[in-house]
Amino acid sequence: SPQRTLVLLKPDAVARGLVGEILSRIERKAHWRITALELRTLDAATLEQHYAEHLDKPFYGELVDFMSSGPSIAVMVEGESVVEGVRLLAGRTNPLQAGPGTIRGDYASHVQENLIHASDCVDAAEREIKIFFPGRA
Ligand code: CMP
Repeated sequence: SPQRTLVLLKPDAVARGLVGEILSRIERKAHWRITALELRTLDAATLEQHYAEHLDKPFYGELVDFMSSGPSIAVMVEGESVVEGVRLLAGRTNPLQAGPGTIRGDYASHVQENLIHASDCVDAAEREIKIFFPGRA
């Protein structure tokens, strides 16, 4: 069924010049389309909304420092089974456990600086789209 998801290319992806590589992997899927895209440096308030479930984690402070360290790219992607599909393309959170051929498996080596965020379910996608593209909710 058609879905939409929220993808963030994190500051490490922009800094390392991996934006084109990551977006082309997403665009290669015939049934997916990029329907919104914005380059933006995320602030603490935006990150608090986006990462509400991680607020009490020991790594939250570091996560905010990293995620606000430079521009990210927020992307909305629409298409068949896109929520689970982009997560498969991204690979496991910890790049050491991410398979070959996944974005994290191929390019990342640190659990925090793992290049890409993708909504973990349809409900999360709709919640996150409201944060990054409020006009599209
Ligand atoms: P993401 O899946 O976007 O959502 C939460 C993020 O927190 C995760 O990617 C990593 O960037 C970061 N993260 C998760 N686990 C850890 C950890 N153990 N230490 C540091 N950062 C983490």
